[in-house]
Amino acid sequence: MSRTSDTSDVLVVGGGIIGLVTAWRAAQRGFATALVDPEPGGGAAQVAAGMLAAVTELHYGEQTLLALNVASARRYPEFAAELTDATGHDLGYRRCGTLAVALDADDRAHLRELHAFQLQSGLVAEWLSGRECRRLEPMLAPGVRGGLRVDGDHQIDPRRLAAALVAACERAGVVFHRAWADRLTVVRDRATGVVTTDGTALGAGRTVLAGGSLSGRLAGVPDAVLPPVRPVKGQVVRLTMPEGRAPLLNRTVRAVVRGNALYLVPRESGELVVGATSEEMGWDTTVTAGGVYELLRDAHELVPGITELPLTETRAGLRPGSPDNAPLLGPTALEGLLLATGHYRNGVLLTPVTGDVMAHVLTTGELPAEARAFTPGRFTTAPALTEQSA
Ligand code: GLY
Repeated sequence: MSRTSDTSDVLVVGGGIIGLVTAWRAAQRGFATALVDPEPGGGAAQVAAGMLAAVTELHYGEQTLLALNVASARRYPEFAAELTDATGHDLGYRRCGTLAVALDADDRAHLRELHAFQLQSGLVAEWLSGRECRRLEPMLAPGVRGGLRVDGDHQIDPRRLAAALVAACERAGVVFHRAWADRLTVVRDRATGVVTTDGTALGAGRTVLAGGSLSGRLAGVPDAVLPPVRPVKGQVVRLTMPEGRAPLLNRTVRAVVRGNALYLVPRESGELVVGATSEEMGWDTTVTAGGVYELLRDAHELVPGITELPLTETRAGLRPGSPDNAPLLGPTALEGLLLATGHYRNGVLLTPVTGDVMAHVLTTGELPAEARAFTPGRFTTAPALTEQSA
């Protein structure tokens, strides 16, 4: 038995930054909007470092995604200003640029290849010698062999971003249901909302599934449209500069150390975020001695001075990975059900463009040209909309 609570035009399932930005934009477009999540503003944004790294996180085979990443990076200044105007929140948006460095000959060769690929892709990155890298960042290890200066890759504080989006949603009239969505309701081949774990039925004209790594687990979603999203664990440590001390780094510093991607993101507040492991461990969010050891060992190799800093937090989160590392955006084959999920390594970067894309879809029924490649339909194989066996 379920109790009917209320009905909205748009119901967003999931209150991470992707769900929040979708709800905010939907409410701004005049839709009666609700969001269901036990803890809006939680999720992977509480762990993420917040790099806006369209250029330095370029990967082979992800050229289509690159266009969306670049489009979102371009929107960040206006998006951040609008969100701050709407809420009064400081987002920790810092246009500090990024330096990607190499510690040995192999890393250097890898970085040279990345540089060539960046230039072929029309991106801006400048090759620097080891000495030039250390001139920019004097706390780098003397062994740094060269690097890429990317002045266009910035950062934002994802925790502040999430808090601001919650405030923006509240001000725009989004109704929060602080509960877990238990099951999608489907009536005559149309999604009609969800039932929460406390048995409340939330009806909706359109339901947007934006549950991050949990998006593939909502009961009641037919197999044919269930998003193929999996959790990819990332462990992160946070160090803090003692008050009054000059920061160790002026910009984000990245490297690949023994095959592991490493980044150090210095905030104006004095926090230094060091991340991240990438582990296919299912739903495990344990912080392990090995994970923390490897991050600190590699970070120490890059910036020896970090060992003096207080270690203030260790945490693990789950990236919502998709089969092609790109998000799933827009309508599904089930009428009334849309997706905004699978943002994997780029959720923070893709927040502005996702909000705009989802607002466009909700208003017109169609994906805008820039997002057509990210239709959930690219993974739809089974023709029948048979309900998922719970
Ligand atoms: N984008 C950084 C990460 O996923 O670790």
